[in-house]
Amino acid sequence: MSNIAAIILAAGEGTRMKSSLPKVLHPVCGKPMLQYLVNTIRSAGIKKIVAVVGHKAGLVRDTLKDIKCVTQPELLGTGDAVLKAKTVLMKDKKINTVLVLCGDVCLVTTETLSAIIDRHVSTRAGCTLLTAYMKNPTGYGRIVRNSNNRIARIIEELDASIYEKVIEEINVGVYCFNKEILFECLGKIKPNQRKKEYYLTDIIELLAKSSIPVESVTSNDSEEFLGVNTREDLNKVEQVARRRALDKITLKGVTVIDPYNTYISEDVIIDKDTIIYPYTFIENDVTIGSNCSIGPFARLRPGTLIEDGVSIGNFVEIVRSRIGNSTKVHHQCYIGDTVIGRNVNIGAGTIVANYDGKNKHKTIIEDNAFIGTGTILVAPVRIGKGARTGAGSVVTKNHNVPAGKTVVGVPARILKIKKER
Ligand code: UD1
Ligand code: MG
Repeated sequence: MSNIAAIILAAGEGTRMKSSLPKVLHPVCGKPMLQYLVNTIRSAGIKKIVAVVGHKAGLVRDTLKDIKCVTQPELLGTGDAVLKAKTVLMKDKKINTVLVLCGDVCLVTTETLSAIIDRHVSTRAGCTLLTAYMKNPTGYGRIVRNSNNRIARIIEELDASIYEKVIEEINVGVYCFNKEILFECLGKIKPNQRKKEYYLTDIIELLAKSSIPVESVTSNDSEEFLGVNTREDLNKVEQVARRRALDKITLKGVTVIDPYNTYISEDVIIDKDTIIYPYTFIENDVTIGSNCSIGPFARLRPGTLIEDGVSIGNFVEIVRSRIGNSTKVHHQCYIGDTVIGRNVNIGAGTIVANYDGKNKHKTIIEDNAFIGTGTILVAPVRIGKGARTGAGSVVTKNHNVPAGKTVVGVPARILKIKKER
């Protein structure tokens, strides 16, 4: 794959989204759209990726930290955007094939990219397009074929006649080009009369007229090929991405009782025989072991690691914390920046006060500790092995509880057991 590069078009504003955030940065199942494309391209074995950025370029570059970005100073259309990658790609003599992906077609899979590349290589085409069949494909470019069923051109919705608008085969926005042909043809396209933009799609007619073969890979699975242009599209894509994320963990042996009312981010890892109860939110960067019970109504936020056999109950929020084997956090708790050992019981209504208004501090609760109902732990603080807190106690900061001791009251003090006479 060292001869193939990918260009991601990510300069557009996404006006139809009506958002101050660039379209390609809108999160889908917890991750920016662009990140999906980068991951998919990489898993297809392509190392060289160039992203074209423009609108709010700084923000987009920050998301694409380790990707080469080139700037499109004026948003003059997808054809102009691809041209901005010319210098970088022409310099690299090893590259002879270029994949071009619209940044808003984020659900395309690695298998599909590989299928386009395979077809492109085996047919030696000038361009191989991804097309799909869609009922009422408003907004998409339509594939116009000639009497021999060869692709003759792509007509955009705005320019399409009523006869062309009924075509159900659409341009997905993912293409594989011969590098030399791509940049040579881009130099020849003229701005679209109506939108005054250079359309990448106009290349297809140029190729067809010069008898350079245009091939296609076609699918009926229009779901994979949704382009996000509006919030409505974003909702549809979110549903698909969420279902894929759930399918992934279900295949690993996890039970999700109510998939329609459970949110699990794309990169969450959950081990087998864990059960997720309804109305649970599991965000990015969360790992859960085996044989756990999570929810209903639990919220696990980034930086949470839950070991095996843990039970997390209703209205429990956990962030940047580690919960040890067989520990129970059952009812109405907030646990932040905390390391909890094994076999700990966190009583109902326990709150870790990790934030002092300026900084966040750590709490450590060691193995076999028993935290009484309604305890407040003011961080930084450490609860020793097997120690106990009484119901409603407030353990103030730095007042660590030694192993085996019991504290009670506000502020919490060590309970002294009177000696019997
Ligand atoms: C485009 C295609 C259309 C296809 C559809 C698939 C063109 C002319 N049309 O339309 O045939 O059916 O995608 O989803 O290509 N961008 C830039 N610079 C620009 C303009 C756009 O980088 O000057 C980027 C955008 O950030 C976006 C991508 O190109 O990621 C596609 O732009 P968009 O406006 O969404 O094109 P569509 O109207 O969807
Ligand atoms: Mg689009």
